[in-house]
Amino acid sequence: MTIRTISPLDCIILNGTVVTAADIARYDIGIKDGKVSILAPALSLADSPATRVIDAQGAYVMPGGIDAHVHLAEPQLFGKGKAADDYTTGTKSAIAGGTTTIIAFAPQDKASPSLLKALDETARKAEGVAYCDYSFHLLLSNPTRECLNEFSALRNRGISSVKIYMTYELLQLRDNQILDVLLQSRIDGVTTMIHAENGDMLSWMTEQLEMRNLLEPKYHATSRPQILEGEATGRAIALSQLIETPILIVHVSSPLAATTIRNAQTAGLPIYAETCPQYLFLTRDDLSKPGYEGAKCVCSPPPRDGVQDLEGIWRGLQNGTFTILSSDHCPFEFDNAVSGKKAAISDDAPLGRFKYIPNGCPGVETRLPLVLSAGRLSPQKFVEVTSTNPAKLYGMYPQKGALLPGVSDADLVIWYPENGIEAFELGNEMLHHNVDYTPFEGRVLSQWPRYTLLRGEVVWDRDNGGVIGEMGCGQFVRRGRSEFCQVQGPWDPEKF
Ligand SMILES: *[C@@H]1O[C@H](CO)[C@@H](O)[C@H](O)[C@H]1NC(C)=O
Ligand SMILES: [Zn+2]
Repeated sequence: MTIRTISPLDCIILNGTVVTAADIARYDIGIKDGKVSILAPALSLADSPATRVIDAQGAYVMPGGIDAHVHLAEPQLFGKGKAADDYTTGTKSAIAGGTTTIIAFAPQDKASPSLLKALDETARKAEGVAYCDYSFHLLLSNPTRECLNEFSALRNRGISSVKIYMTYELLQLRDNQILDVLLQSRIDGVTTMIHAENGDMLSWMTEQLEMRNLLEPKYHATSRPQILEGEATGRAIALSQLIETPILIVHVSSPLAATTIRNAQTAGLPIYAETCPQYLFLTRDDLSKPGYEGAKCVCSPPPRDGVQDLEGIWRGLQNGTFTILSSDHCPFEFDNAVSGKKAAISDDAPLGRFKYIPNGCPGVETRLPLVLSAGRLSPQKFVEVTSTNPAKLYGMYPQKGALLPGVSDADLVIWYPENGIEAFELGNEMLHHNVDYTPFEGRVLSQWPRYTLLRGEVVWDRDNGGVIGEMGCGQFVRRGRSEFCQVQGPWDPEKF
């Protein structure tokens, strides 16, 4: 069978193994005006005219990755660290790793609290300089009535999510403030993302360790035991239950928290959860490396104790406890004593004081290759948690995260061949971020994207030029209400 189209296609991907969250089968894909225009049986488009043809025999063809947790160009909110990546380097790194859309953060300034102002300031930083498509979550540090009243204006600007914190001195909200945010989110159809760690327990533990002069990087993990994440997760779920509105718990690291989430889901509550590669691959051993090396893996929540913890997180990813897998790319330079990891070193603390180590690891480029190379998720599950679910959860589906003809953007990542390439060791010099290390240095990978396409244009060609997309080709994506946020009536306190 041959399908002939009226006008030539812009691009045809021939004979690949097309993977979506639901299906895996051999298809041809025709692209026109930046959209997926035809999905046809394998080789049926072989004779159709097209400007470009990519022979994808033996390759996986998937919707481009969506990384819903990326920190770029943020001011110093967490002590001394300053983000090393801006919207240019961060998005370049994204496409080289197969990610075509990121959602980064627009941080609210406590001193001038308007959310719309925060959105404008951050949007200016991204305008015209990005290599992939992007949106923003509003990062709320001071939920005054004025700023809650801006939620509906945010929705009109295509923003449908906010992030709040239960920890970090400058950001931590009290439970009543969280309830205010959840109620407003319910009213305006906004998804609330929650960083769930008990900030008071953390400060107390930190004091105990400091008093005993236990300061080096590995004590970062000691200061934040699993119970501290488990407690905050349970409390976040209770708060969401009171308001009867969905929440997303970000970057879950502990099996204890995962089990708490699973139980809530089993009870029918709309609780969604995210995990990240660092909680699938790193442990306390990485924090305990000799000298100051461990600082490279300081992120919050911390990598957990051992292999059994990693297994618990993998299980949660396989069994649907985790809705999405994001990077939490939070880039700080290592060898930088002013705004990087080494800012925590002083004369009286040559191995640093863990409480001053900027919290975060880079990972926007390595997220997909690490997890696909591990071979522990089915290809469909991989697409579901790295692309389709983030699109649904954050109101971009099916423009993003799908391959629906006539509807979806032609954002694709092509892995060549589907059973992997010759194994190689990851080294930081291969990456495109503006950070002088990767926490995954030396890991053996067997997958790396051969091509990344953004709205039909090849922007990454691994074997022929690398990043060939142009700076500024990335566009702002307007987002709607979450697919996972069911329609609700007014909240009624008399129900209780
Ligand atoms: C799914 O994974 C979670 C998190 O690891 C775990 O608590 C739960 O027992 C698992 N459920 C099943 C049915 O395997
Ligand atoms: Zn984060």
